[in-house]
Amino acid sequence: MNYDDIKKIWIIGASSGIGEALAKALAKDGKQVIISARSEDKLKAITETSDNITYTTVDVTDTKSIGNAMKGIKNLDSVIQCAGWFSAETAKDFDADMFKKHFDINVQGTANILDPVLKRFKKASKGHVAVISSVAGYHGLPKSLSYGPTKAALINLCEALAIDFYDTDIKIQVINPGFVKTPLTDQNDFEMPMMITPEEAAKSIVKGLKRGSFEITFPVIFSYILKTVAKLPYALSIPLIKKATAGKM
Ligand SMILES: NC(=O)c1ccc[n+]([C@@H]2O[C@H](COP(=O)([O-])OP(=O)(O)OC[C@H]3O[C@@H](n4cnc5c(N)ncnc54)[C@H](OP(=O)(O)O)[C@@H]3O)[C@@H](O)[C@H]2O)c1
Repeated sequence: MNYDDIKKIWIIGASSGIGEALAKALAKDGKQVIISARSEDKLKAITETSDNITYTTVDVTDTKSIGNAMKGIKNLDSVIQCAGWFSAETAKDFDADMFKKHFDINVQGTANILDPVLKRFKKASKGHVAVISSVAGYHGLPKSLSYGPTKAALINLCEALAIDFYDTDIKIQVINPGFVKTPLTDQNDFEMPMMITPEEAAKSIVKGLKRGSFEITFPVIFSYILKTVAKLPYALSIPLIKKATAGKM
């Protein structure tokens, strides 16, 4: 399904940050946008910025709330799964409960959304899905001990779905941002190279949705540096990342 054929888009995780900016950008581009997250007050305030935006609350860890939301959304063309959670951790903080929380929201939460959405799209033989992962999924990184593995899992999941739906009218895209200034990164006390605003991120995402390639990644230079490092033998990539992030991450 191409961008121009998409009329109605459901963005989950749109009460702040990248999802909010993306909802506003897509609404401005004439799309009908439904935004979801847990914070109803924030969602409501965003709907007041555009006639093209409506909301329904969803907790991605609660399949009942997803089912209820979907019942109210007819003629859905596209789903963009942005909901995510991050807590900075190094090896000294490693904690199985934190690991589980990251997986419950970022990975299982995405599966909880994709299950009913893909069932509907398969029935209609058309649809578009984009999942926000991260460049942190390319290679293990300091401070991303539990977060990074969730993002690697999402990239792998999207790759597999893109293969299965290849040559059909169900399009799968993965979005891998670098650092974006949002409440999620505001907690970081380390230097975040090439950080961009949510509005800049939204602009890159809309461009990528229009282009239609499998991966949407930005800022391009930052992403390609990380991608190149991730392709090196581990004997080089691990000391290189250690050196580059020492005292920063
Ligand atoms: N900022 C970055 O540098 C960066 C880089 C790469 C990837 N990303 C990814 O981009 C996505 C958006 O993050 P952001 O940076 O824009 O951070 P953000 O402003 O904190 O947005 C996170 C969104 O997820 C929602 N959310 C969290 N838990 C949820 C749950 N259980 N159910 C439903 N919604 C939930 C939040 O809303 P409620 O709290 O209201 O539910 C919020 O709308 C995340 O997947 C993140 O991992 C961010």
